[in-house]
Amino acid sequence: MVTSSAPGKVYLFGEHAVVYGEPAVPCAIERRARVTVEQRSDSKLRVHAEDLSLDGFTVEYSGDADGHPDIDVSESLVEAAMGYVDAAVDQARDAVAEQRGEDAPAVGFDVSIASDIPLGAGLGSSAAVTVAGIDAATRELGVELSSETIADRAFRAEYDVQKGQASRADTFCSATGGAVRVEGDDCRGIGAPDLPFVIGFDGGAGDTGKLVAGVRELRDEYGFAADTVEAIGDIVRRGEQVLADAAEDPESDRIDELGDLMDFNHGLLEALGVSSRSLDSMVWAARDAGARGAKLTGAGGGGCIVALDETDETETALEFTPGCETAFRAELATDGVRVESS
Ligand code: PMV
Repeated sequence: MVTSSAPGKVYLFGEHAVVYGEPAVPCAIERRARVTVEQRSDSKLRVHAEDLSLDGFTVEYSGDADGHPDIDVSESLVEAAMGYVDAAVDQARDAVAEQRGEDAPAVGFDVSIASDIPLGAGLGSSAAVTVAGIDAATRELGVELSSETIADRAFRAEYDVQKGQASRADTFCSATGGAVRVEGDDCRGIGAPDLPFVIGFDGGAGDTGKLVAGVRELRDEYGFAADTVEAIGDIVRRGEQVLADAAEDPESDRIDELGDLMDFNHGLLEALGVSSRSLDSMVWAARDAGARGAKLTGAGGGGCIVALDETDETETALEFTPGCETAFRAELATDGVRVESS
């Protein structure tokens, strides 16, 4: 039996613009999904999800085309949880076969998932479950993959489940940890100081596909919307430089400039129509409380904001902000995927 964990993430800069080839900087955060995998004596897949911000449920599932889960919860909940686990297990079997130079092993697993990353809220919950699942399942079969290979396998799993609508950002960031620069298929870790993230969650989630399509329409219709997307890319390029300087000299005032760039980035995302009343209220509450900067993170429309504040002021202010369901502090996760017990 092996338990592996992997972190969620926030976007410091660059969501949406990354879809059009601009760079983005996601950062892993110390909120983890933990996946425990134990090999079965048959070839079935049994999944227990404890705390996925869904009600706890257990699914017994054979994993073949006609093997529908035999439980009494809505199909979409089952699909959400099962799709990623199923795809992760397939990738794990395939990776083991590749290493051993033989056919994929027809082994089954008991899988249990516990996650403290809110679901579908722009914090990379599905990527974290997929990454941790691949690591735990391959280790259970006696194979250890590099974090880069896990990132690639997890990307392929998400790509299948999300029907081609996945970028490499979430899975790479979750597998490697730290701050990451993503531009197209080029993903790499970059230096960053320990950033004082505070996250506000409105309890909801945006529809990523619709929000991405909305930005695409605006960009096709108006030159100034295309310029806005490019301007986000300029913010990211400036932000990378500031991050590198701040990593070298954490005592400098560079964190203030990072905050200013986050504010600017949020303004441009707002102009592109992907913010919401609750996200804007949380951003303004953070700024009023003295945060160095604040912006929405991820697709938008609802979900989470991220602010930078070393003090408790922003977290306290967010807790009293109408529209904010919960607020919490999250450190930059320097560890990506890791084994918790085996
Ligand atoms: O909400 P998330 O964490 O899945 O982020 C979506 C980020 C977008 O740039 C809007 C889309 C993408 O695939 O990069």
